[in-house]
Amino acid sequence: MKVLIYDDAEQAVASAADHLIAVLNAKPDAVLGLATGGTMLPLYQRLVALYQEGLVSFGKAVTFNLDEYIGISPDHAGSYHTYMRNVLFDHVDIDLSRTYLPRGDCEDAATEAAEYEALIGASGGIDLQLLGIGQNGHIGFNEPTSSLSALTRIKTLTQDTRNANARYFEHFEDIPKYALTMGIGSILATRSCVLLATGVAKAQAVAAMVEGPVSAACPASALQLHPKATIVLDKDAAAELTLTDYYHHVHPKGAESVWN
Ligand code: PGA
Repeated sequence: MKVLIYDDAEQAVASAADHLIAVLNAKPDAVLGLATGGTMLPLYQRLVALYQEGLVSFGKAVTFNLDEYIGISPDHAGSYHTYMRNVLFDHVDIDLSRTYLPRGDCEDAATEAAEYEALIGASGGIDLQLLGIGQNGHIGFNEPTSSLSALTRIKTLTQDTRNANARYFEHFEDIPKYALTMGIGSILATRSCVLLATGVAKAQAVAAMVEGPVSAACPASALQLHPKATIVLDKDAAAELTLTDYYHHVHPKGAESVWN
């Protein structure tokens, strides 16, 4: 695991954006795994700004999102389809026919999950997966006790996750109870991943992910098994780590180590 700690969230966001742009500029038709959530908003803002400056193109990219709520249509205000259009897709040169999210309004969620996983495989696999982390250690919607080898499937959301996402829905009972999510196994199969976490509310989950045991109790800890995982943090999200001096020594201010 590469642990990069920045003084503030702005620098962490810039670093995560730089990782994604480096992949796209090296391989314009890269397959990108995308994430949603509050943490990702400034990251997408930055990517849009860099696109407007002519520093990156999404014209040939293929994207797969991690997850979507079951039971709501793509044009629902709270769907991740809507989120992605609002924050990224409508503002860059991406070809919408190459952007994929699970369909929350599908007839048969189990079939949709299997087809989604197969589509990722048929696209050649994900070159770079973006990830956030929940306060309970989830990645995607893989809640604690998720199988660490599962592929895309239906997951029941925890009440905490539903509370955390309440802002996107008018009434609490409107918040979906189930989601389709890429599994930890799907995420471990990606060629590289960048997890972005900012703010002190994530500090405990980040410490469990990086320095705790590999455990389904903290699904993000499975990233310790990923061959190329980069964890991008601001100092607040890094606050509960104990080996901070070492991380700064290896990657001072987030810089690449000379051995890379
Ligand atoms: P957040 O969500 O960025 O809104 O905190 C992250 C997640 O739940 O993965």
